[in-house]
Amino acid sequence: MELWRGTATPIFFWFHGRSLREGYCELSTVQYQLQVDVIIIVRILVEEEVLALLNWNDRYSVGVKVLDDQHKGLIGILNELHEAMLKAQAESVSGPLLQRLLDYTRVHFAAEDRFMSESRFPGLAQHRAQHEALTQKLGEYLTRRQRGETGIQIQLLHFLRDWLATHIQKEDKEYGPWLNEHGIQ
Ligand SMILES: [Fe+2]
Ligand SMILES: [Fe+2]
Repeated sequence: MELWRGTATPIFFWFHGRSLREGYCELSTVQYQLQVDVIIIVRILVEEEVLALLNWNDRYSVGVKVLDDQHKGLIGILNELHEAMLKAQAESVSGPLLQRLLDYTRVHFAAEDRFMSESRFPGLAQHRAQHEALTQKLGEYLTRRQRGETGIQIQLLHFLRDWLATHIQKEDKEYGPWLNEHGIQ
């Protein structure tokens, strides 16, 4: 009966279009068929949960909408890359995704850099050094991959997830109030 609780329940409503009580009754009368349905649904939900490497959370907000949107975009590409890797999709899928991640990272870092420069944020030099170190690391990885020296590795994705989550919550959040005070929302 545990299967009916938590994440499986809303899908059950949608799937059968009946109340949960009716669902229980049906389970006891047409037990085998329904159990198969539920097992399939639960498996899909669990799989989707596992595929997300990092989920956006409001605690990641830096208080500047365009930068929050870019962070969401970065998390999205990272999750796509993770999904491609878990599904063992070909390099023709994961390779361009990795390139897109690098390109978008550069766009995002440039945007942050511009805001910090324009507002004369005191921590700019230190922040910029962190961006440069990550861009260089990603670029080197991409070069090695293009040479066929390495594929997409889970360690890289975990590193990027941890780096991004930590950087957003620490360094990026430091410029938030400063940018807001300088009219950047
Ligand atoms: Fe950022
Ligand atoms: Fe940053």
